[in-house]
Amino acid sequence: MWKSRKVVIVGAGAVGTSFAYALAQKGMADEICISDANQDLAEGQVLDLAHGLPYYPPVQIHVGHKQDYADASIIVITAGAKQGPGETRLNLLQKNATIIESIVDDVLSENSQAILLIVSNPVDILTHVALQRSGWPKGRVIGSGTVLDSARFRYLISQHCNVDVGNVHAYILGEHGDSEFAAWSMTNVAGVPMAEYCPMCGACEDWDEQLAQIAREVKESAYHIINYKGATYYGIGMALVRIVGAILQDQRSVLTVSTFLSGEYGISNVCLGIPSVIGQAGVIKIVEAPLTAQEQQSLEKSAHTLQQVFQDLHAPR
Ligand SMILES: NC(=O)c1ccc[n+]([C@@H]2O[C@H](COP(=O)([O-])OP(=O)(O)OC[C@H]3O[C@@H](n4cnc5c(N)ncnc54)[C@H](O)[C@@H]3O)[C@@H](O)[C@H]2O)c1
Repeated sequence: MWKSRKVVIVGAGAVGTSFAYALAQKGMADEICISDANQDLAEGQVLDLAHGLPYYPPVQIHVGHKQDYADASIIVITAGAKQGPGETRLNLLQKNATIIESIVDDVLSENSQAILLIVSNPVDILTHVALQRSGWPKGRVIGSGTVLDSARFRYLISQHCNVDVGNVHAYILGEHGDSEFAAWSMTNVAGVPMAEYCPMCGACEDWDEQLAQIAREVKESAYHIINYKGATYYGIGMALVRIVGAILQDQRSVLTVSTFLSGEYGISNVCLGIPSVIGQAGVIKIVEAPLTAQEQQSLEKSAHTLQQVFQDLHAPR
């Protein structure tokens, strides 16, 4: 176990600070450091968060510096540039890849033994970038993947079926983005597969249609929230607490983090959201679920999409 459970958060924006706030309340970390390219923002966010100290479980919260990487347990990267007017996605990706690479270089310069958790988007591509730049074992560089999407999926099923979300086991796999898909073969309520649960549930009669609608809603969730309020941050904040908690407490939880595949599911050379056993060492094992032929095809399609983007990123300009 860790001597001191120190979590460094790079990026003091909406996602970084929502995560910090939730993590502090859970009492899972001894120390939370927050840094940002905008030093004033980091100072202000830390002060505001620290004023809750009398009411959190014991934790230290302070502005992070490069030296904090040296003894960090986990480094969570939420730093990123915003899309400028008229800027292409690829252009934004190139900017964010450069940001991630420079943070990874700083981490390496401090001989950090931490787990690196990438959150900035596009998360699967940036996880691959960080893994490549660091040269670390693949289990130590992971992305938040489809952990948030799977939480959205569980929530929507629980609402529709009017059943405790804790009894809903459901996974979104692949890219955290448009090519992600619902792995219905792995989805069940209290161990009862959906094909058998739906006829007895009584919540609806046209369940095939309703399930397809739920899967669509998951995919569109981020777009809806962004339309309403400009960004998503509370859901991802809690998803990060779940991932970081699994690492700090060596929980060996199965979570759909973004991890590098080298032959699993017949796919190589790409990071994407796949059920993985998470503990103190990061990704300990990838769970190779027996997907249906259609799900396997969707996973390969998602992998291909991401491989193409990764190639475009590295194409000579
Ligand atoms: N993976 C997911 O499920 C998920 C969910 C929501 C958001 N996100 C992503 O998380 C990222 C952060 O979102 P946000 O809403 O917090 O954005 P934000 O703009 O509020 O915060 C980003 C912060 O990064 C900082 N930054 C930029 N370059 C930096 C650098 N080199 N070093 C340190 N800090 C730097 C900026 O100053 C800014 O404060 C975005 O890329 C967003 O798309 C991912």
